[in-house]
Amino acid sequence: MDLSNRVAVITGGGSGIGRAVATAMAPRGVAAVALVDVSPAVVEIAESLNAAAGRNYAIAFQGDTTDPAFRASVFDQMGTRFGEVSLCVPAAGITRDDLAVRVDKVTGKARIYPVEQFKLVVDVNLIAPVYWALEMIGRIAEGRAARGLKRWNADEGMQGSVVFIGSVSSQGNRGQISYASTKAGIEGAAATIMKEAMYYGVRCSVIHPGFTDTPMVRAMGADYVAKNILPFTQLGRLIQPAEIADAICFMLASSAVSGELWVDAGWHAPA
Ligand SMILES: NC(=O)c1ccc[n+]([C@@H]2O[C@H](COP(=O)([O-])OP(=O)(O)OC[C@H]3O[C@@H](n4cnc5c(N)ncnc54)[C@H](O)[C@@H]3O)[C@@H](O)[C@H]2O)c1
Repeated sequence: MDLSNRVAVITGGGSGIGRAVATAMAPRGVAAVALVDVSPAVVEIAESLNAAAGRNYAIAFQGDTTDPAFRASVFDQMGTRFGEVSLCVPAAGITRDDLAVRVDKVTGKARIYPVEQFKLVVDVNLIAPVYWALEMIGRIAEGRAARGLKRWNADEGMQGSVVFIGSVSSQGNRGQISYASTKAGIEGAAATIMKEAMYYGVRCSVIHPGFTDTPMVRAMGADYVAKNILPFTQLGRLIQPAEIADAICFMLASSAVSGELWVDAGWHAPA
């Protein structure tokens, strides 16, 4: 599958991995990329990507990925301006890390992880990415139905591709009860979409990045990263967002990809 002249939607496009994927799409000839982020910085990021690429391919959309009306309007606008969206990388994500159970040293009482936080992380990291992918697949399916097309066959060429962002934490990681649950959940959703969406010619895969040099990881603090992460990686450094983006573009493009790719620099969660 050639990425050139395709139309893409990337959530979390204002930072880290999402931004790196948008950057990597320019030389691959992607026609237009919706850069979706809750942060207002996404507007400037789109401008800088366009300046670097020498063409206006990145279009900023500021909003919350958990808002269904916002999601529909991004797809409506991209569809009207550039044609059907056929690449989706729902990368927006958050962490709300804490131990699942913590005993207060003074009172001796156990404090369990707040359920509101758990639900928030599920909304942003699991439900929203799945629904951004389904939005694209639904529109592709509708377009096919309108053209009288039923089950896809390989002669038609790929109709679309989704890459979900999992994590090494999907295998369990101390202090990440909500985050790890969402990243493991993504695997189940993706495995189902992999089976269903092929009817419409849409492929789906999951990348599991290891610790990558983005604001999400930098928020852990340089000392923590140096002591607790880097010694357990084979590279001895954080993965660069461009390295993850390169892998994501390969997964979007290769017609044979339908599974999961671990891009983890050898890091595994300790006991
Ligand atoms: N950095 C890592 O080491 C690492 C490792 C494994 C997986 N991941 C995953 O990669 C993805 C990108 O992470 P990153 O490291 O680039 O983080 P990041 O914090 O740099 O970027 C995430 C972006 O998502 C945006 N966002 C968060 N909630 C949103 C919402 N509700 N609506 C719209 N935008 C929202 C943020 O504003 C931010 O710009 C996430 O899904 C993360 O879980 C990151």
